[in-house]
Amino acid sequence: MDVLADPTLLKQHCQTWRTQGLTIALVPTMGFLHAGHLSLLDHARSVADRLVLSIFVNPTQFGPNEDLDRYPRDLPRDLELAAAHGVDLAFAPEADAMYHPDHATWVDVPELGAGLCGASRPGHFRGVCTVVTKLFGLVRPDLAVFGQKDWQQLAIIRRMARDLELGVEIVGRPIFREPDGLAMSSRNVYLTPEEREEAPAIRQGLALVQEAVRSGELDVTRLGLMFRSHLAEKLSGSRVDYAAFVHPEALSPKACVDAPTLLAVAVFLSRVRLIDNILLEV
Ligand code: PAJ
Repeated sequence: MDVLADPTLLKQHCQTWRTQGLTIALVPTMGFLHAGHLSLLDHARSVADRLVLSIFVNPTQFGPNEDLDRYPRDLPRDLELAAAHGVDLAFAPEADAMYHPDHATWVDVPELGAGLCGASRPGHFRGVCTVVTKLFGLVRPDLAVFGQKDWQQLAIIRRMARDLELGVEIVGRPIFREPDGLAMSSRNVYLTPEEREEAPAIRQGLALVQEAVRSGELDVTRLGLMFRSHLAEKLSGSRVDYAAFVHPEALSPKACVDAPTLLAVAVFLSRVRLIDNILLEV
């Protein structure tokens, strides 16, 4: 496995592969890899000739009061895992190698990025879209793999790739969970042992709503209340940032679960913000 920090070398490396007629898959991450990331790598490995993993804690997607400085990092461990999962090239640049001091260009999908996570994280998706566009420009992958855990991010990147004709196939993969149902996240390490024990209540709340939909309850106000009261009961110190019923692609609010509807939630456990979602089937 090659490890590169220099964007120019990355570009050359990928260019060589392309001239050899090899297909390239890219899995963008911020590192501190867990089994969810690894499931993306394993899928990507099985569908392309060459696999590129990027590890970059992208400063432009963090707000001023967010966890950029304390975001968990462990590059040596990430590289070991990457090699074990068949990565051909790991790209781990420094921030100043990715952004020129006079960087001035931004990619934004405001219609999809304003609500849900975008409402409490202004500018977040603009940072995500910009860095992903840069990574696409450097690697020029045939396909790029993203997790459905960050459903809004996936929907935005899909729209961006389509609207800008980026020529990259965007592949979405299912949420990988801990045995007790908690969605895997690099931020789970912030949880206290008590919070960690109670956190699967989020997933249980989503499952409860799915059950209610199956039994014929389609009204999102009542379904939303059901989710909130489940959390209030099972996750004492939590605060629901949002619990939204939206169209899975347009991300627009829905009043009724009359067709596949995404229930996306963000929940604060003390200062840790966890997200999860479920595609509700009628
Ligand atoms: P990061 O949070 O490191 O996630 C990298 C990729 O892993 C994303 O596509 C995310 O959806 C996926 N992922 C995270 N947890 C997952 C889980 N439990 N199951 C399946 N997939 C999971 O998302 C980012 O980084 C950044 O915003 C990035 C796209 C790299 C741009 O900086």
